Amino acid sequence: MDLVIRNASQVLTCTRPDLEAPYTGQDAGELGLTTGGVAIEDGRIAAVGPDVDGMDGKQVIDAQGGVVLPGFVDCHTHAVFHGSRADEFELRAQGTPYQEIARRGGGIRRSMELLREATDEQLEESVRKHLDWFLQAGTTTIEAKSGYGLSLEDELRSLRALGIDHPVEVTRTCLAAHSVPPEYEGDTRGYLEMVANEIYPAVLAEGLARYCDVFCETGVFSFYESQLIMEAGRELGLRPRIHADQLSRTGGARLACRVGAISADHIEFISKEDAVAMRDEGVIGVLLPAANHILDQDERPPARAMIGVRCPVAVATDFNPGSAPVFSMPLTLNMACVRFGLTVAEAIVGATMNAACAIERQDEIGSLRVGKQADVLVCDVTDYREIAYYAGRDPVSVVVKRGVVRKERGSPRAAR
Ligand code: NIG
Ligand code: FE
Repeated sequence: MDLVIRNASQVLTCTRPDLEAPYTGQDAGELGLTTGGVAIEDGRIAAVGPDVDGMDGKQVIDAQGGVVLPGFVDCHTHAVFHGSRADEFELRAQGTPYQEIARRGGGIRRSMELLREATDEQLEESVRKHLDWFLQAGTTTIEAKSGYGLSLEDELRSLRALGIDHPVEVTRTCLAAHSVPPEYEGDTRGYLEMVANEIYPAVLAEGLARYCDVFCETGVFSFYESQLIMEAGRELGLRPRIHADQLSRTGGARLACRVGAISADHIEFISKEDAVAMRDEGVIGVLLPAANHILDQDERPPARAMIGVRCPVAVATDFNPGSAPVFSMPLTLNMACVRFGLTVAEAIVGATMNAACAIERQDEIGSLRVGKQADVLVCDVTDYREIAYYAGRDPVSVVVKRGVVRKERGSPRAAR
């Protein structure tokens, strides 16, 4: 074996014998708990479970009674942005609403200006910094959206910057329909036509994204405008995703069902009936508790009802400079439990297997199954619930990406 991780008190395989599909309903918290460890060869998982304790390898990591689990998959991030909006964070804390800040020229518009001013090199440096943060926190794969460029050239620059060489794998999404840029003020249709006729074809020609996304929200893109742009993307070959029903009820989750979107994200304002429709159409509900927390939103997605009706649920950070400057999945798991009422097991499945399904990578990542890519974490806790429990503490002591150790801190330490 190339690498053997052994002596774990809990191994969360997040897998079941039968299928690579989202875990729902009573299975939504199916951790596939075992003991022992994981053996890795050629970047792939070669063995999992108690037998691994007896195995030897070229490299051995003693988990010292810790918890072993799949690398986190963050299926909703805005990882390409430049600079921060810490001043807006403070303004909001003092009572200025998010949408009011946007009306004053802050918000997405402000990040657009910062991104457009940045050189390609600066943008790549920002992306590299963000990916480094993800990796240190145990996230081995992310979905990342453009959406702060809002012009042909700046959307392409954003997606190219997300393609830098880095251990964290990035699945890219074109979110040109994030906001109407100043050049198109008052001409939303004109902007969307440009997105459909110029940006999407250029993105596809360069192979820069697999998905398109839209911010369907009151005062941003309406239900019908969102439908138009999602259908345009789909016809060209970009599978849609959608920012839906976050700050108001726009019907975005229903739209996701209608156009065959892979996921509907945020979904604070959906109903149980919407969740049933999502289940029937195979639309994954992506919960973003960090954005809900940072915006101090009273409205919460009906997470328990979603699980009750077997609607698939994933959990992601929404990492972005405005509503969620949060890259840590352990912290996000804490918020998923506290704010949305998930069990820790449901939150972990939502951030591994179900998140892998939300980016259609479930055959390669998201669970510890023999033959899959070896993206593995060791946490220095003895009960998996402590990953979410110690809010703000980094429990991840070892990160392995495609069989290569990318982080290893003091305890547990390498046996040799
Ligand atoms: O997912 N909702 C839309 N977009 C982001 C926030 C964008 C920003 O504030 O920069 C989100 O919350
Ligand atoms: Fe988002």
